Amino acid sequence: MNIDFTYENPTRIHFGKTALDHLSEELSNYGKNVLLVYGKASIKKIGLYDEVISILKKAGKNVVELEGIKPNPTYNQVVEGARLVREQHTDLILAVGGGSVIDCAKAISAAAYCSGDPWVRYWGNMEYVDNEVVPIGAILTMTGTGSEMNSGSVITNEDKMLKIGRVFPMHNLAPRFAILNPEYTYTVPKYQMVSGIFDIFSHLMEQYFSGDDDCVSDYLLEGDMLALINATRAALKDPRDYEARSNIAWCSTTALCKLLAVSKEQDWMVHMIEHQLGAYTDCAHGIGLAIISVPYYKHIYSYGLHRFVRFAKTIWHVDPTGKTDEEIALEGIECLSNFIAEMGIPQHLRDVGATEEMLPKIAKSTIKCGSYYICDTPGVLQILKEAF
Ligand code: NZQ
Ligand code: ZN
Repeated sequence: MNIDFTYENPTRIHFGKTALDHLSEELSNYGKNVLLVYGKASIKKIGLYDEVISILKKAGKNVVELEGIKPNPTYNQVVEGARLVREQHTDLILAVGGGSVIDCAKAISAAAYCSGDPWVRYWGNMEYVDNEVVPIGAILTMTGTGSEMNSGSVITNEDKMLKIGRVFPMHNLAPRFAILNPEYTYTVPKYQMVSGIFDIFSHLMEQYFSGDDDCVSDYLLEGDMLALINATRAALKDPRDYEARSNIAWCSTTALCKLLAVSKEQDWMVHMIEHQLGAYTDCAHGIGLAIISVPYYKHIYSYGLHRFVRFAKTIWHVDPTGKTDEEIALEGIECLSNFIAEMGIPQHLRDVGATEEMLPKIAKSTIKCGSYYICDTPGVLQILKEAF
């Protein structure tokens, strides 16, 4: 563990089939005014909306609703939510949905009492949030982002063609509580399910492909990857397999609650490219990540050969006999590519609405980061062309 760290996580998780039973006890910790934030239609279709409203009413809450949060939530929706918070004097923002809804709730909380322009301060300059914020509770209906137990918030500014993620302070902008009943995820369409699964896998790889010291975090990351592959195969066969869906849900939460990242440099370049791809195409986050990952890792594996060899052997059980490290590493990346195909994820950027004209703009506007190697704009463009 070569890098010193401080770790905290303030989110209380209620997990399993009876998790919603804990909502009323959680609500008792907050004042009367609740802003209920949710997406377009899914929570009404699965009956969760009615259940939540009934619990809120029994608890005597005044509820204001902000519905229609888009996948890839927009800054305009954040501004609208912030206005509602100020008007209602909201005591709790209750986000019911996937990562987009929870991310939007965090952004609303940070923006509501911000002095100055929240976009410039919190997504442009990445300033520390020093104003009053409103506590957030989450009821998760789609797994993938880990937003239920972290302080990340990814917002798309449609006017500026930017999709920017940032990590807020954990102590006040991670949800105070999160309710995770894996049964809610049964109705997630297959395309969104595999998008969420690949998002989890990508979070694990972004943290894993850094450093050479084989620390505890690397072993934990591998454990999550192996569990996720097993559970994915079972969920593809039977989407209502509770064991599979619950394992996917817990992989998702643990993958990005920051615990597995301690003492790691981390990479995150696949995410940076996908965010700008999302700004231009509005594609599902995990699908974009899957398309970019293989060409990206083919570009950088030689700079972190030791770790890519370990990935091939441990995760994909590649037989190293008679092979060079280079061959083993590339076979591991090939196995990753096969796993993406097994999930039925599209293989090319043109399949998700990207055009050749977009590629230089995406490459230029992508924030450049990395661990073993940092790509420049021509490097990103090359990866995008290969993914096209
Ligand atoms: O809008 P509704 O009707 O709710 O439909 C949603 C949406 O269309 C649907 N859905 C959710 N639960 C469902 C369901 N459909 C049927 N049954 C259910 N139970 O699924 C669609 C996608 O939902 P969304 O919330 O957009 O998906 P996801 O959880 O993948 O969130 C993606 C967003 O999170 C950001 C991404 O960039 C993207 O903007 N991320 C957030 C992170 C964080 N906070 O740490 C990290 C991630 O890397 C990621 O960047
Ligand atoms: Zn992600």
